[in-house]
Order: sequence, then C-alpha cells, then structure tokens
Amino acid sequence: MEKLLQVKDLHVSFVTYGGEVQAVRGVSFDLHKGETLAIVGESGCGKSVTANSIMKLIPSPPGKITAGKIIYNGQELVTKEEKEMRHIRGVDISMIFQDPMTALNPTLTIGEQLTEGLRQHQQISRQAANQQAMDILDLVGIPNPKERLRQYPHQFSGGMRQRIVIAMALICEPELLIADEPTTALDVTIQAQILELFEKIQKETGIAIILITHDLGVVAKIADRIAVMYAGKIIEVGDKREIFYHASHPYTKGLLLSVPRLDRPEEKLIPIDGTPPDLFSPPVGCPFTARCPQAMEVCEKVYPYQTALSDTHQVECWLQDEKARKPAVL
Ligand SMILES: Nc1ncnc2c1ncn2[C@@H]1O[C@H](COP(=O)(O)OP(=O)(O)OP(=O)(O)O)[C@@H](O)[C@H]1O
Ligand code: SF4
Ligand SMILES: [Mg+2]
Repeated sequence: MEKLLQVKDLHVSFVTYGGEVQAVRGVSFDLHKGETLAIVGESGCGKSVTANSIMKLIPSPPGKITAGKIIYNGQELVTKEEKEMRHIRGVDISMIFQDPMTALNPTLTIGEQLTEGLRQHQQISRQAANQQAMDILDLVGIPNPKERLRQYPHQFSGGMRQRIVIAMALICEPELLIADEPTTALDVTIQAQILELFEKIQKETGIAIILITHDLGVVAKIADRIAVMYAGKIIEVGDKREIFYHASHPYTKGLLLSVPRLDRPEEKLIPIDGTPPDLFSPPVGCPFTARCPQAMEVCEKVYPYQTALSDTHQVECWLQDEKARKPAVL
C-alpha cells in the first residue's frame, strides 16, 4: 500500500515559566492511503500535540517542533511556509478538533459555513457549492439537506452538530482526516452512531483517518492499526488484532484492562496505579518504570530499543531482551 504520511522522529516542546515541557519525544509512524490509524493513550501523553503538529497548528510561542520530519505525499511539512500549509489544511488534510462544539459559528447558517471553505479553495459557483453541501449532508446522514442548509447550529441536536462538523471537514474531499476525540462530548448512543458514520465515510470515500481517542472500544470497531502513546512516545504499534489479542507492552495490557470499552460495557475496570511522569524532566529510562509490575533494574536506566514482533507489530520494552530479563549472576 502506498504511504500517504510519514512522521519521523518528531519532537515537540513547549517553553513555559515552569520549564520546557517535552510533549512529544521522538514519535515515528507511517499512514497508508485509505487506512485508519488510532492513536490511544492516557491524558497528557501527547496525542493532540502529535495531531496538531501534522497540521502545523502548534501555538508558537510557547510550542515548537524541535526535530523530526512530517512527509505528506512526498512533501515535507515541518519546513513548509504558512501560506502553503493553509492550502494543505483547506484541501488535503482536515481536522476535527477535540472540542467540536466550538467549531460551528452560531451566527452563520450551516450552508454558509459548509460552502465557505469550498469557495475559498476552489473556483466554484454558489449553485455548485450548495449542491456539494447538500451531497455532503446526505453522506453524513442529515435528512432534508435543502432546508437544513438554511438553518443555524442551535437548530440541531448535539449529535447532528457533530455530523455537520464532520461534513465541514469532508466537503473539500481531503485525503486525510484527523479526528481528535470526535465523540467524547457525546452520549454513548450518539457516540456509536458517529463511529458508524466514520466507518461508512471511510468505505465510501477511501479517505485515510487518524483517530485519536481514550476509548479502546472505539478503535476495536473502526481502526486498522493502533499506536499506543505514553509520555510523549509511541511505545507499541500494531494491527488492531495484534494490539487486542497479542499486546506486549505492560502499559498496553494495563490500558486494555483500565478503559471502558463500548464493545464490553459490563467488564470490570482495573485502573493502572500511579500517574504518568512529569514531562518537564522525563525519565532517561522507560517512562513506565514507576508503574510497571514487571520493571527490572535496566528499565529506569536505559530507554528500551524497538523490537519488531512482526512486520506490523513493534514494541519498546526491555522484556523483549532475553539478557535484560536474566539478572546478572554475581
Ligand atoms: N500550549 C501548551 N502549553 C504548554 N504545554 C502544553 C501545551 N499544549 C500541550 N501541552 C502539554 O503537552 C503535553 C501533551 O499534551 P496533549 O494535549 O497532546 O495530550 P493528550 O494526549 O492529547 O491528552 P488528552 O487525552 O487529555 O487530550 C501535556 O503535558 C500538556 O500539558
Ligand atoms: S521497559 Fe521495563 S518498565 Fe518499561 S514497560 Fe518494559 S518491563 Fe516495564
Ligand atoms: Mg488531546
């Protein structure tokens, strides 16, 4: 499969009064055309910062991409001028932000908001833009699109508004959609409907999706691959089945037991004790050491190298190293 996006050794920091927060510390991953990659992990592990970096939307100051490359369709984005990035954001890569309810302007009709981006980036008549807006509302499951285009956001329910936000992200037919916690603000039934919508959109348009979420139940349904982040790093990545049935990293295993899953709502949750490390001065070794039930001496001293468990499954943990598992005989 052709690679659409390559993130290579990405580092992102924020300079604050308290010091430098190393939010993303060497993240690398590939995304293929038409693929859905989920990025999961506890709050503060760097999911949104990674996503915002791809869009070059890190507020600067205080933030800065300090190292790494982001290659989209052969173009390097980290060094791209803002003018070119604006075009890429309008046409090629769309993003649904973590707080989608603020994405709609209460003073403009849905039609005005949907066609704005279209008319900005494409030479297209008002009539053609309206037709495209109606088609996209139909795709996201909003009935009576013609009348709906003339209405304002307050005339829609929360779930419907989220469908409109998704429609706005899709109207320019991007090749990549980044959705940052797109269902968190919605109740459980609506969440399930919105996820089904993502699945349908993916199938009908062939778009590639990066889906960021806390909820592994969400990814169980629609992701092809899963990247697990912890303390600014991807500590395990694999096909959905590899992560769900053959998780290797103790953090991934803990996460699978600790977060609610839409597919298994009745399951008892076992929280992971402790909290992630402070990213002002992240540990030199494995950042999970303080919470890991299997931690060994080497873990807090040296960061584990990456081990490939299959062509698609990689993990960064000392348990993969036979020598590390055997304590030295004195
Ligand atoms: N503008 C900012 N200024 C300073 N620190 C920031 C800023 N934005 C993010 N950070 C820090 O970067 C780290 C990663 O944050 P990020 O928002 O990516 O987490 P997340 O994984 O998306 O968490 P959540 O699941 O809560 O959304 C956190 O320690 C956060 O405090
Ligand atoms: S490297 Fe060590 S501390 Fe980190 S997850 Fe593996 S066993 Fe646990
Ligand atoms: Mg976030």
